[in-house]
Amino acid sequence: QAHEVVVVGSVNADLVIGVRRRPAPGETVLGSDLATYPGGKGANQAVAAARLGGRVGILGRVGDDGHGALLRAALAGAGVDLSHLLVTEGPSGVALITVDPGGDNSIIVSPGANARLVPADVDRARPMLAAASVVSFQLEIPIETVEAAARAAADAGARVVLNLSPPAPLPDGLLALCDPLVVNEHEAAFLLGHRGGPADLAKELLGRGPRSVLITLGADGALVADAAGVTAVSSPKVEAVDTTGAGDAFTAALCLRLARGDDLADAARYAARVGAAAVRRPGAQSSYPDADEELPA
Ligand code: RIB
Ligand code: NA
Repeated sequence: QAHEVVVVGSVNADLVIGVRRRPAPGETVLGSDLATYPGGKGANQAVAAARLGGRVGILGRVGDDGHGALLRAALAGAGVDLSHLLVTEGPSGVALITVDPGGDNSIIVSPGANARLVPADVDRARPMLAAASVVSFQLEIPIETVEAAARAAADAGARVVLNLSPPAPLPDGLLALCDPLVVNEHEAAFLLGHRGGPADLAKELLGRGPRSVLITLGADGALVADAAGVTAVSSPKVEAVDTTGAGDAFTAALCLRLARGDDLADAARYAARVGAAAVRRPGAQSSYPDADEELPA
């Protein structure tokens, strides 16, 4: 059976330390014990969508190290189809993460095997991409690979969702495939070259060519914009423990509901509840809700 959601993206081991505050250059601070979690924006999305009951596949690369084995096991445990999870000699992607008492994180990503996911890998995965309802992208893999896979997906009639994270310039033509382009306010400002109110940013982004735009606003919810206009979506209020990967859970839930026929605003309402559930627990994948969990409302 074809996948509802195929994720093309990164798979990282998250090495997380809790800190009271982040060190300044030249400074040393003591933090908590190290926790190692499965992460990576791509794998996070795949796991989140699968936990919610989706039929999900991933195109990605891990290294032949211990992290690679952990990452594969986490994806397998969630029921993600791993027939296009490839193995590269050398290290897996790693994210060095600090989490502060407010639940906010800072992340440094070492791409490792993710950098070796190349357009030739897309060729081999073409049947999976073509059969998917929604194909979801983020930007922790080479942009040529994103471009090739998005083109293959769109040509076959799959819906392309792209989260501009971490922010990077998009090649011509890629923006026009996005339905929606998913950005936070920083990423929107990066693309447009200036800041502004979210509704203005959404309209201006829409003018750059994507079929639809979704701006995530953290605890304030999200804005969706398409030809029909701009709609605000609120987020349930929850106590933030660790926001790491909450955006990935949001996007995964959005993709799953779009694959099942929701319109963008309805899909975003559900996604905001799933994202809120994820900030209540530590880690990324470790914090994602199951299909039968009661979501914050
Ligand atoms: O979005 C959160 C993710 O960003 C983490 O899991 C980390 O691996 C980085 O990719
Ligand atoms: Na979390």
